[in-house]
Formats: sequence, C-alpha cells, structure tokens
Amino acid sequence: MSKHPTSQRLADFLPYQLSIAPCRACDGCFKTGRCVVKDPMQELYPRLEACDHLVVASPLYFTSVPGHLKVLIDRFQCYWARRTLLDDPPQPRRSGMFLCIGAMDRRRYYESTLTLVKTWMMELNMACAVTRFYPGLDDRQDVQTRADYLQDARQAGIELIRSARQEKA
Ligand SMILES: Cc1cc2nc3c(=O)[nH]c(=O)nc-3n(C[C@H](O)[C@H](O)[C@H](O)COP(=O)(O)O)c2cc1C
Repeated sequence: MSKHPTSQRLADFLPYQLSIAPCRACDGCFKTGRCVVKDPMQELYPRLEACDHLVVASPLYFTSVPGHLKVLIDRFQCYWARRTLLDDPPQPRRSGMFLCIGAMDRRRYYESTLTLVKTWMMELNMACAVTRFYPGLDDRQDVQTRADYLQDARQAGIELIRSARQEKA
C-alpha cells in the first residue's frame, strides 16, 4: 500500500476486527467531505487514500459482502460528497481488484456484488481493474484443496500491477 517506488508494502485489515459504526445519513460530511463519526474509520480513510492499490477479498453472504464490510463501505458516503458535491475526489486515479468466493456457482450473485465493490472503488477514484470469482468454497479448509484458485489469485495480483504499469506508460 505504499507510494514508494522501490518498496512494495502490503497492509491488510479485517473489517470484523474494527468497531465501525454504520453511516447514519446525518449529512455531516456534505460541507467538508469528512465524516464526523469518530471511530476507526478515521484511521482507515487516509490509509485507503494513500494506497496504490486496493485488493478486496470477500466471501458472498446472501449475494453480497458480509455485514462488517458493507458497514465500512457505507462510510464512504463522505467520499461521495467529496466527488459529487465538492468536486474533490481523491487523487491520483488508481486501481483495485476484487477476489470473491462463494459456496454456490451462481455468477449473478457475484456480479451483483461486483457492482457494489465497483461503486465503492469509484468513490476512491479507483478502477476495479481485475476481478475473480471462486465458487465451490464453503468449508474453511476448502481453499487449501484448490491449488488452481490460489495460483489464479497470484496471477490476478500480477495482472493488477501490470495493468497499472500499462496505464502509466
Ligand atoms: C451468512 C452467510 C451467507 C451466505 N450466502 C451465500 C451466498 O449468497 N452465495 C454463496 O455462494 N455462498 C454463500 N455463503 C457461503 C459462503 O460464501 C462460504 O461458506 C464462504 O466460504 C464463507 O467464507 P468465510 O468462512 O471466510 O466467511 C454464505 C455463508 C454465510 C455464513
């Protein structure tokens, strides 16, 4: 998540470990583009604004992302305010990737979730450049039996970096 050209730093976070309050549609962000709710999001906003790429890895829960992640995404309403009301989206334009797993092989569930993730990334001024759906994963250990999925996920990461380099070239 670094802007430093010679080092590649990865930082991750798990939304369920953070105590993030839901957006309450108070419109407190409309004038400043800043969320007025003081919770762990205040540390997360600058991190997501500074990163070069965002990788979202999520299971499908009822054809969407798990609740903790959805609560986090809703808190980007202040970035919607920045983009649409204040004409101040984060800069520069960047790119992200969505890796999604599910028990069932129902592409339409994944596709509706992809729309949600793309909409979130749009507020961060990011293109969702690479996406993958890995069905048939239900038990915790399932992914360990799918060397093909793990290999493909690594390949997806390479595609993300390549596509960003091509955009810059
Ligand atoms: C609350 C809940 C809702 C789920 N909804 C879906 C679903 O809509 N489509 C699907 O393919 N799998 C669904 N699943 C299965 C999960 O995507 C699958 O078990 C996944 O491996 C869970 O990953 P996790 O252990 O990291 O939470 C659901 C699982 C849970 C617990």
